[in-house]
Amino acid sequence: MLQGKSAIITGGVRGIGKAIAAEFCKNGADVLLCYRSNDEQAQKTAAELSQHGTRVELLKGDVADPKTAKEAVARAKDLFGKVDILVNNAGITRDKLLMRMSAEDFTDVISANLNGSFYFLSEASKVMIKQRSGRIINLSSVAGVKGNPAQVNYSASKAGVIGMTMSAAKELGRRGITVNAIAPGFIDTDMTAVMTDDQKAKIAEAISLGRTGKPEDIAKTALFLASDSASYITGQTICVDGGLTM
Ligand SMILES: NC(=O)c1ccc[n+]([C@@H]2O[C@H](COP(=O)([O-])OP(=O)(O)OC[C@H]3O[C@@H](n4cnc5c(N)ncnc54)[C@H](OP(=O)(O)O)[C@@H]3O)[C@@H](O)[C@H]2O)c1
Repeated sequence: MLQGKSAIITGGVRGIGKAIAAEFCKNGADVLLCYRSNDEQAQKTAAELSQHGTRVELLKGDVADPKTAKEAVARAKDLFGKVDILVNNAGITRDKLLMRMSAEDFTDVISANLNGSFYFLSEASKVMIKQRSGRIINLSSVAGVKGNPAQVNYSASKAGVIGMTMSAAKELGRRGITVNAIAPGFIDTDMTAVMTDDQKAKIAEAISLGRTGKPEDIAKTALFLASDSASYITGQTICVDGGLTM
């Protein structure tokens, strides 16, 4: 489905980002995976995904620093000659009740999740405009669609991602670029591993399909949005949440 395509995936070495990278590689894409600190995991993921026979490259950097996006896009252009797909996946949580949330808790999450997505969107779209084609997929969250207690910072960042997705889709549509968001529900990754079994069971009760999601559930949606099958879809946020938000 993605033969000969190249993709940048932020936070692509573990969790949802890794699953998206694996799906893209299996379908013929070369990938540049950005990560912040986990060198061991990055090397492991690169070795694992290389077995699919496409190129898997790594770039270490903080997405909250605008220099990282510049470097990543320049590297991808250098390595692959183009940037067909951008997946803005890197993200963090700093969950606290509003009364305990510091200004730093708030800005750290906004900087990584929203500013980081903007920097990559901005840099990649410059290349895609010249190519007159491109696919941009931003990871939002159900927390950005309907809010969540103890996640004022995270919800604000993920609602921001939805607004950014719609505005960018309106600006870039006539240049052959689609921009969409995925809003995952509760997905089993390191991000959610901190919750107790009791908390997980309560969430599963609210999910119509009766189970939490797997990174692969999100990866299949990302593959669809990156593929030719989704060429007439832009500005949308697809909730992949087992029926949690309806
Ligand atoms: N899991 C869920 O239930 C869920 C639900 C809704 C939305 N989401 C969203 O889906 C995306 C992926 O989540 P996940 O559960 O897979 O998270 P995860 O397992 O915690 O992995 C996060 C990835 O992002 C990278 N990252 C974090 N901050 C970064 C920064 N400042 N600069 C560069 N890389 C950074 C991490 O790099 P290192 O490996 O180097 O640390 C890691 O590879 C996030 O945007 C998250 O908000 C997740």
